[in-house]
Amino acid sequence: MKAFVLDENITKYTFGKPFDTETVFLKGTEITRENIEFFKINKEEKFNLTYNMDISQIVFGLGENQRGINKRGGIYESFCKDEPNHTPNKKSLYGAHNFIVLDGNEKFGVFVDFPGKVVFDVGFSNNNELKISLGEENFDIYIINGKNARSIVRKFLSLIGESYVPPKWAFGYQQSRWSYKNENTVLNIADSFIKNDIPCDAIYLDIDYMDKFKDFTIDSDNFPYFESFIKRMKNKGFRLVPIIDAGVKIEKGYNVYEEGVEKGYFCTDTEGKNFTAAVWPGLCHFPDFLNKEARRWFGLKYKILANIGIEGFWNDMNEPALFYTKRGLKEALNEVKECEGKNLDVYSFFNLRSKFSNISSADEDYKSIYHNVDGNKVNHYKVHNMYGYNMLKSASEGLKEVYNNKRFLLFSRASYIGMHKYGGIWTGDNHSWWEHILLNIKMMASLNMCGFLYIGADTGGFSTDANSQLVIRWTQFSIFTPLFRNHSSMGTRNQEPFSFDDKTTDVLRNVIKFRYALIPYIYSEYMKAVINNDMYFIPICFEYDDKTSRRIENQLLVGGSIMIAPVYEENSAGRYVYCPEDMLLWKVSDFKNRKFNVVKKGHMYLDVELDEIPIFIRKDNILVIGNTASNVDSLDNRELNVIAFVENKAEYIYYDDDGISFDYKKGNYSKITIKIEKTKNDYNIDVKNSKNSFLNKLNFEIVDQEGTLSKKTIYI
Ligand code: GLC
Repeated sequence: MKAFVLDENITKYTFGKPFDTETVFLKGTEITRENIEFFKINKEEKFNLTYNMDISQIVFGLGENQRGINKRGGIYESFCKDEPNHTPNKKSLYGAHNFIVLDGNEKFGVFVDFPGKVVFDVGFSNNNELKISLGEENFDIYIINGKNARSIVRKFLSLIGESYVPPKWAFGYQQSRWSYKNENTVLNIADSFIKNDIPCDAIYLDIDYMDKFKDFTIDSDNFPYFESFIKRMKNKGFRLVPIIDAGVKIEKGYNVYEEGVEKGYFCTDTEGKNFTAAVWPGLCHFPDFLNKEARRWFGLKYKILANIGIEGFWNDMNEPALFYTKRGLKEALNEVKECEGKNLDVYSFFNLRSKFSNISSADEDYKSIYHNVDGNKVNHYKVHNMYGYNMLKSASEGLKEVYNNKRFLLFSRASYIGMHKYGGIWTGDNHSWWEHILLNIKMMASLNMCGFLYIGADTGGFSTDANSQLVIRWTQFSIFTPLFRNHSSMGTRNQEPFSFDDKTTDVLRNVIKFRYALIPYIYSEYMKAVINNDMYFIPICFEYDDKTSRRIENQLLVGGSIMIAPVYEENSAGRYVYCPEDMLLWKVSDFKNRKFNVVKKGHMYLDVELDEIPIFIRKDNILVIGNTASNVDSLDNRELNVIAFVENKAEYIYYDDDGISFDYKKGNYSKITIKIEKTKNDYNIDVKNSKNSFLNKLNFEIVDQEGTLSKKTIYI
């Protein structure tokens, strides 16, 4: 073991020869250390590290995973998995996020930088023991000290680098389904948004837009005039966002396949041949995204679609998901032959069944894949969690070459910490289950801790049928997620906002319009989180460290000014809410009608009608809201509304930029500081406008501790 000091709070311990994941660039200075702080090392069974948790200790982190914001009580395996059933027993989902924060008598963060399987047993096998197990002894582990969970997370975020920033239009509402199969279907969806006066920025193209599921091709029967179709859609106010999958169909004459074979850009198998497994198109090869040249080659393919007007993509099946390999299928079919005509008892039947149920994404298959990393042959199993990461990196680097200074929408299903530099993630195939709204709420904060800011779930649920109430309640939460997309699987009931009855359409129209009015705040908070290495979704106890706040997982802080308490139970016309201090409650139904109530610190049962979204403005804080429009490009926010709850004084920094380019990196953005101070009978308002702002008017609605509302207008 070697130890390095990265800064006074971060120490890195290196075991063996770790694979360079490129997640952390800081090298540090070598120091002498006998042990890792806090941990005991045990090399008996596997390599593992143990730590005795005290009774009060909360364990935050682990990003995309089951269970709560507090991960205690569970066992988690970091190994990116195509797992479409997110039931509580699942140990792995699509992402591998090896960062945790222990918050008890001792407070520290741990990042295990290892791209193979890592098991986090967080008091599952042994109540008070945290055990981190790795299959081999080649990894880096970072220990981060800090005075509280929030500061530890922020140090970690500064260690892993600045987040991806999408274009502003990607903060609009997005509609998806597997699949809108042809031009007419897509047009009808767009027209329904227009007819129903529901804002929308993007419509997604799932796998059926391609010719036989081949990446970078178009099904010319269903999309005969694709290029002009993109333009037509753009003129209507919608961007199209196509999917790109990891597997490349094996088909003579298909250029991506032929080039990949010729240049040796695919992953290989144990015999050195191109590794083959089946996904949507049938048998495929898999681009070796860990190979620099292959990564660039595939990344530049996005040009084909970018050059004809596509401005955003989603990367899928990049764990990589494998339906079956010839080996797996052969074994399963042999078992069938063996069993034919026999009278199978329970165990023989279970055995037969498991041959098929375990055929997909099998460890044995992953172990037979090889990468070419700078000329070295690397077994896939050891670096499994790097695959999706590098697929997104490939797209991001390719698109940067194509678009230059223009931002693009990009997100992935599989991920590893550090991938947040290249794009966002969505949380994969959830279900139209109420439990998954709650899971969604909890996951958002954990993902932020691991660096992922541009995030969202399939609103309304991907699998199984949704009812209108579920879509409403879910959408009411999703208006706060940076990626705001409704997506559903083929074979399920349609769940676009106008797919139910008129009343539901009316409610969802108001909800989605409110999202657009919130964009100035959402974007400002998102960008401040990027620039300041901070979170956007924040657990209540990161700001209020009282005993109750430490246990609240079904409410979140969104940015610095507000707390949300979404309704996630069927047929409930309200919910219990805990206010850690006095707050200003605004139940939003139509955002233009504003009625505020001061609510006192403590517990309450809050009535929340189906068309209402409760928002709590924190004391001495400010929420800015703008106007709504049919899409982000048409938003006019030269005039903004400032809603403030002021006991003494409140301050807000409102960030904005062009929403299109990367010029914000050069300091080309506007920051407006709004200060409100309560005087004896009035308020002093001070607005400091920076050079680049388009803002010219602010309408203030200020509520004091007694609930008295004062209105003022300031011209800038
Ligand atoms: C995967 C994705 C899902 C997509 C489907 C078809 O299941 O997670 O979002 O709709 O594949 O492409």
